[in-house]
Amino acid sequence: MSLLKTPAGWPSILLPKADGGAGKDAFSGLRHAIHLGPTGTIAEVAASGLRGHGGSGYTTADKWRAAALAGRDAGVSTRYVVVNGYGADPSSLTDRTLLAENPAGVVEGAAIAAWAIGAEEAIIAVRAGETAAIAALEGAIAAAGAAGLLGNDAAGTGHRLEVEVRTVQGAYMLGEETVLIKALEGKRGQPEQRPPHPTEDGLWGKPTVVQNAQTAAAAAWILAHGAAEFRQAGTSEDPGTILVDVRGPAGGGIAEVPFGTTLAAIAKLAGGTGAGHEIKAVLVGGPSGGILPADHLTTPYTFEALRVAGAHVGSGSVIVADERACIVDLARLLTRYCADEACGKTIPCRIGTRRMAEIGERLAGGTSRAGDLELLVDLAEDIVGSALCDHERLATLPLMSGLRYFRPEIDAHLERGECPAGVCHPSALGRPPATATTTPSATQPSSASPA
Ligand SMILES: Cc1cc2nc3c(=O)[nH]c(=O)nc-3n(C[C@H](O)[C@H](O)[C@H](O)COP(=O)(O)O)c2cc1C
Ligand code: SF4
Repeated sequence: MSLLKTPAGWPSILLPKADGGAGKDAFSGLRHAIHLGPTGTIAEVAASGLRGHGGSGYTTADKWRAAALAGRDAGVSTRYVVVNGYGADPSSLTDRTLLAENPAGVVEGAAIAAWAIGAEEAIIAVRAGETAAIAALEGAIAAAGAAGLLGNDAAGTGHRLEVEVRTVQGAYMLGEETVLIKALEGKRGQPEQRPPHPTEDGLWGKPTVVQNAQTAAAAAWILAHGAAEFRQAGTSEDPGTILVDVRGPAGGGIAEVPFGTTLAAIAKLAGGTGAGHEIKAVLVGGPSGGILPADHLTTPYTFEALRVAGAHVGSGSVIVADERACIVDLARLLTRYCADEACGKTIPCRIGTRRMAEIGERLAGGTSRAGDLELLVDLAEDIVGSALCDHERLATLPLMSGLRYFRPEIDAHLERGECPAGVCHPSALGRPPATATTTPSATQPSSASPA
């Protein structure tokens, strides 16, 4: 996937600058972290306001602090860092692009996190088969080792610091942190109930920081350039930048965007819809993302603004759709994907997402039943209310955001067996319309939150 051209003046924190200038000496962030010591390193990351880029937006310094302190009273001395470079969403190549384009930043961030929490080992988990990224990461590890920054006496500190690349292979759920930990332990994976969080009970039962690859690279940049400089980009709540994978009818690619960039500006990076078409919707967050209408293009790309709108940062995927797309068709395909990928451990998710997918398929096929929309809303509320992992909550978003913003289009399918975009082929034209018993207001279960 190609890198999209972004406006001059946008910061380059995660990806190297287009002119090739890295701006700082290699591994200067790690050297500075060693100079600051673990507490000072966490303080610098806290001052930066860095939040996790893997979807949750969790404050990175809080995670590091929790892992650094966990088990101390009980004499636990082993800790781990796991960098999540899996890239679960097939519609987003953000993390895979980062691993290939800025392997040194990811390795450096992994080592800095390990140093900060008192871990000796950091593991970068990468999808098997990503040979170019794996080679790039191993090259960066070798370079850090040759510079004396890794090994039994990292930078003369007397501290052992190792970074290694491990490959993992699985389906969508493998990106979820507790599943990833099990995969690294060689076990079959399903998400675990939290608490305890991995910061207390993670890899091999030890305190573990699981960090998205972009978050690790951002941490390296912060230690090299300073928290204040990092805060020059993005918003006060969501400082810095993030990678988006933006695709539309006119093209697509990966771009580094400052947090707070509007969805309109992100769509424009991929050429919008091209000539002669209007943007109808943007799907934000990946397969479990929200489908937002064109009048939400002013929404800033931040964790909170997207959550309020009914979408989420998720995998960084932004898909632009024009009037030729059918929202019912899109939502039902996404919901089916989410249902198929659910691991099955939790009954409301296992059964509920399938029922939701079936309702979407009935809508698209013109075979809806009276009460289907009410059932859809009930199912979504039940699923969200009994979440074990974030997949459960997020899998409801495509259909719920569709219901919230594209009700006339859904009603056309439901009541008249018509697909205004001409995409679906309802089979039951001429049948009596399915009359709704009530009018679901709904929209989106109130507690839905980002992964
Ligand atoms: C179904 C599912 C898939 C996920 N896939 C990924 C992934 O591919 N990469 C990732 O970094 N986080 C993924 N996450 C989020 C991780 O569980 C975890 O929150 C993240 O790796 C923590 O890193 P961060 O704090 O830097 O965001 C996924 C979560 C869910 C529920
Ligand atoms: S909520 Fe869904 S995906 Fe998550 S553990 Fe339960 S069944 Fe698996």
